[in-house]
Amino acid sequence: MTVPLRGGDGVRRSVRRGIIIEPIADPSLGDSARKARMATRLNPVAEAADILGEPLQGILPPVEWAACADEIAAIRALKRERRALILAHNYMTPDIYFGVADVTGDSLTLARAAQGLDAAVIVMAGVYFMAETVKILNPGRTVLVPDREAGCSLSESITAGDVRELRRRHPGVPVATYVNTSAEVKAESDICCTSSNARRVVESLGAPRVILIPDRYLAANVARETSVEIVTWPGRCVVHERFRPEEIRAIRTDHPEAHVLAHPECPPEVVAEADFSGSTAAMSEYVARRHPDTVVLLTECSMSDNVAAEHPEVHFVRPCNLCPYMKMNTLATIRRALETLRPAVDVPDEVARRARRTVERMLAL
Ligand code: 13P
Ligand code: SF4
Repeated sequence: MTVPLRGGDGVRRSVRRGIIIEPIADPSLGDSARKARMATRLNPVAEAADILGEPLQGILPPVEWAACADEIAAIRALKRERRALILAHNYMTPDIYFGVADVTGDSLTLARAAQGLDAAVIVMAGVYFMAETVKILNPGRTVLVPDREAGCSLSESITAGDVRELRRRHPGVPVATYVNTSAEVKAESDICCTSSNARRVVESLGAPRVILIPDRYLAANVARETSVEIVTWPGRCVVHERFRPEEIRAIRTDHPEAHVLAHPECPPEVVAEADFSGSTAAMSEYVARRHPDTVVLLTECSMSDNVAAEHPEVHFVRPCNLCPYMKMNTLATIRRALETLRPAVDVPDEVARRARRTVERMLAL
């Protein structure tokens, strides 16, 4: 597996999983933020076009490039000064995804990438549980989340006490916990999983019955593919629960050639009507590998924007839903986090130790 990497020079690279190489701070660039901002003011549109590069030209109109060029240049300069790297989830808007991210990907890619980073500061452009996972794997580093309120409906659906109660009700049954949970919930679990490896994780436990929490739809989708009996929890993603099978049928009427890809957090009746189901990274890979004429990504809206930017030859039908939590990440909140080194994620040592074991067990698979 490769990890897409965007350096401070805007050049996209692919590197082997877990080895992330960023051109780190050049000490001679102490006042680079000021210089970059001055250059931006001289010709904002040209500067924006230059730093955002070709793939974004069909996505953001020139006037929007001009609006974000100043922030992007400042963030790049701050990254050098702070020896910081930005991890960005696939749901980040294109200005973040293409403009300032060093590593992009799905939850699994970002968790793996977090293990091998050479940076003093890591900014997680995503949601809080993702930043906590980075902190758990990098206890000695400063981990920033641009907005502390960037939660997740799945993560908020379950507590550590709920997991203890589930164990009491199902003695001896192992607990596999979706990465979309708090550090405390991970600490009470046996192993973590993401949307890319949930079935493999469940089957790796070698048990006839597994507690797979907290997403009832992910659990139902895994249960359809495995002989392991699944016990779950009534958590739901506010973005993916809204897709309906009728939407797919209507799209197929208008676009019979469309390939329909659904995230496994969608209800099982939606996944059943789709041509493919996989994590956000798996959807990207599908488009890159198959080059469909028309594609539908049943997931968060920015995902289609980012994949479309890389595949201008593919037509995207977009019945997407916005994640209100992911959208709390903006260039302004990222810049403020780098300027102030806040909000920094803190996980109590004992919780972090137990949660790390759960995450590392998944990463070792
Ligand atoms: P992925 O692991 O597929 O990127 O999903 C994370 C997420 O929050 C989806 O809603
Ligand atoms: Fe959570 Fe759903 Fe948003 Fe992903 S898209 S962060 S699962 S609420």
